[in-house]
Amino acid sequence: MTDIRTLLLSRIRDVPDHPEPGVMFKDITPLLADPAAFSALTEALAELTVRYGATKIVGLEARGFILGAPVAVRAGVGFVPVRKAGKLPGATLRQAYDLEYGTAEIEVHAEDLSAEDRVMVVDDVLATGGTAEASLRLIRRAGAEVAGVSVLMELGFLGGRTRLAPALDGAPLEALLQV
Ligand code: PRP
Repeated sequence: MTDIRTLLLSRIRDVPDHPEPGVMFKDITPLLADPAAFSALTEALAELTVRYGATKIVGLEARGFILGAPVAVRAGVGFVPVRKAGKLPGATLRQAYDLEYGTAEIEVHAEDLSAEDRVMVVDDVLATGGTAEASLRLIRRAGAEVAGVSVLMELGFLGGRTRLAPALDGAPLEALLQV
């Protein structure tokens, strides 16, 4: 049986100098286009969702939507999108976070999460951890509990795990691949 990590890694394409010179972009579109690899990925993330007792998945725009939605269906839990600011039509909670240059803001519909929920955050990549950290703040501000963060790959050299640790407050960070 092919090891799942070998399979997933073989379907991630390295694109040099994207979106800017010096950056090696990890392109997951070959993985998404391969039904066996995409299915294995969603199965692994759904298993983590069930293992940690989540009741909802929060997916982070945009690639976290592609992964999080099928994982939610597989795990039998709800899906809640965290979007870049200004996209959601209802009453939202908004959280700012620091980028390398400047700041960004993300939002969630306040009514989609409650004190009844344990939330698993799903995304493709953990890089600096800024986006995931802001999403954990949103989840707690909505009154929900954090079940954990699950990503396809962690770019360890950017230190996201260390940055995220206080916001995780003991909840697990699971990365299927370390790159
Ligand atoms: C990427 C990636 C994560 C985030 C990780 O999203 O999909 O959401 O960056 O970076 P961080 O750990 O440094 O916060 P991006 O903002 O490029 O959005 P996209 O998915 O819409 O391309």
